[in-house]
Amino acid sequence: MSHPTAAGDPGVLSTLFRSEQGGHERVLLCQDRESGLRAVIAVHSTALGPALGGTRFHAYASDEEAVRDALNLARGMSYKNALAGLRHGGGKAVIIGNPAPASEGGAKSEALLRAYGRFVASLNGAYVTACDVGTYVADMDVVAQECQWTTGRSPAAGGAGDSSVLTAFGVFQGMRASAQTLWGAPTLDGRTVGVAGVGKVGHHLVDHLVADGARVVVTDVRPEVVERVRARHPQVTAVADTDALIRADLDVYAPCALGGALNDETVPALTARVVCGAANNQLAHPGVEKDLADRGILYAPDYVVNAGGVIQVADELLGFDFERAQAKAALIYDTTLAIFERATADGVPPAVAADRIAEQRMAEARRTS
Ligand SMILES: NC(=O)c1ccc[n+]([C@@H]2O[C@H](COP(=O)([O-])OP(=O)(O)OC[C@H]3O[C@@H](n4cnc5c(N)ncnc54)[C@H](O)[C@@H]3O)[C@@H](O)[C@H]2O)c1
Repeated sequence: MSHPTAAGDPGVLSTLFRSEQGGHERVLLCQDRESGLRAVIAVHSTALGPALGGTRFHAYASDEEAVRDALNLARGMSYKNALAGLRHGGGKAVIIGNPAPASEGGAKSEALLRAYGRFVASLNGAYVTACDVGTYVADMDVVAQECQWTTGRSPAAGGAGDSSVLTAFGVFQGMRASAQTLWGAPTLDGRTVGVAGVGKVGHHLVDHLVADGARVVVTDVRPEVVERVRARHPQVTAVADTDALIRADLDVYAPCALGGALNDETVPALTARVVCGAANNQLAHPGVEKDLADRGILYAPDYVVNAGGVIQVADELLGFDFERAQAKAALIYDTTLAIFERATADGVPPAVAADRIAEQRMAEARRTS
């Protein structure tokens, strides 16, 4: 029986123990009063290997929201890692607080990160941590001083550094697979691709697209990053905002900014036949994947095509080798094709097919372990 905390909300423990979104192996609530650390480490699954996922540092509105976020994110990592072909399960951590450095009025300090590292180490390798929103390679360098199960470190500390290069490469592979499925050739040559957000990942994606012969249209809320892209590629055009981009005459739309890009307003307005981009959590709510399919739009699931970053941090654990990691990220092409084939065979949207394949891989690993 659930124990409601508010009208209609069964509470996070119910999510954990009773719902389909739960089933986590363990959750560690961490507190270090001296440094002010309050954190949640959620290990969803170790069926495929040690749980791997980043540390989000965020000023949550409530402690319950923090736990719920950790649970959801950890579960998402199980699926992402399974489809990336990694020998890793899914986990994620959240640190509760303002991610700005203590010197700027925030909660982040060396003492806090070290305390956090000791909690991760207490799991003895069941969870491997990395960067996420609000944490950076420099932070992981500090965490690594207390915990050997840390990746996403700086090259100076033996890490692989910025993961956006391989993330963009992986998204490009997903887009090539989409082109193969829809138009019969694995190239964007002659296609018009709209990239929303030309930050760390988006601007590398533009490089691949231009090299492949695509016409590229971009938008970003920061004029300076648009200018950076146009300085490298004068043939790239820019539009004022995402709304103008999705209504432009596109073949492919690549959301590379924030989550929720595909929603009840944007899906009916899309001109593109393919959606394939780096942003996490592109589907604003369940059901959007079906709306896309009903409009004949091929959606390459976000967590499949943006796995280049996690492939990189997983490779770092072996002693980073860029070529080896890139070869693994290139397999995103094959995985995306397999998902589209499964979607057609099962008569379901690609997002559902992707989940099924991931669940199958985890179930097989559990059977053989
Ligand atoms: N960096 C990685 O390796 C990685 C890996 C997996 C997923 N992702 C996801 O990909 C997305 C992009 O990541 P990033 O590392 O490039 O981040 P980033 O912050 O460097 O770039 C995001 C860009 O989007 C722009 N932006 C924000 N709001 C916008 C809006 N409303 N319209 C247009 N542009 C807007 C920002 O100005 C910024 O330039 C994020 O959703 C991230 O979670 C990144």
